[in-house]
Amino acid sequence: MTGLNRRPLVAGNWKMHTTVPEALNLTTSIRQRLDPAPRAQVVLLPPFISVWPVQQLLVDDLRIAVGAQDCFWERAGAFTGQISAEMLRESCQHVLIGHSERRHLFGDSDQTVRRKLDAVLAAHLRPMLAVGETSAEKSSGRTDSVLGDQLRSGLGGLATTDLLRCDLAYEPVWAIGSGKTAEPAEIAAAIAQIRKVLEEMEPGAGGELRVLYGGSVTAESAASILGLEEVDGALVGGASLDPEEFCAIVAVAGAIAH
Ligand code: PGA
Repeated sequence: MTGLNRRPLVAGNWKMHTTVPEALNLTTSIRQRLDPAPRAQVVLLPPFISVWPVQQLLVDDLRIAVGAQDCFWERAGAFTGQISAEMLRESCQHVLIGHSERRHLFGDSDQTVRRKLDAVLAAHLRPMLAVGETSAEKSSGRTDSVLGDQLRSGLGGLATTDLLRCDLAYEPVWAIGSGKTAEPAEIAAAIAQIRKVLEEMEPGAGGELRVLYGGSVTAESAASILGLEEVDGALVGGASLDPEEFCAIVAVAGAIAH
């Protein structure tokens, strides 16, 4: 059964792209092209330096929320170069945690992912936890166990109200930035497994939490992915830097909202 809170969500992960002026231009272009009342929720994830300026530009635009791509788990202190969830509190509403580029390029472990997620919840922001298997894990048949481990360490033991504030993104690592989208049947099976693990953790959570798909989503591939009953939206990387393409994906998400 579809949960009450599963309004489709399309998030644009800009990664390490755009200067501040470019981020403002991209935001303006997206605003101009976006449906006046999109059925899907839209979240932009600019680089840290642009989170506040983009948010300021969107103050009167209820169609678009802002998020950060990561954060550090301590509230404040001698942690040169880090940004805390607490610092993001006035600047955005969402924080992506556990993206595979963080896990694989910057050494985020299941333990540090959890510390970050706890910090996001403590700052009263919404975490979006990304999980997904590598191609080696997939070919050795370990997808389900990897997803289970990442979910249990990321979310296990949370109070129900905190768990229900989380969004999830299933992002097979091999599909990110590769132009290779997972097959709809693979996506459906992986997300069904994610929902099963959530349900085991907290009865009802499997049907309540939003689970997005991410990995080479384009306007062309969006319909076959977002049409799947299990999928509540998309986490879009490359295609989110093109306003036409991104808004087309948002339109698809709204049109086939389950
Ligand atoms: P991609 O990135 O759409 O460029 O594959 C998705 C992501 O990394 O979130």
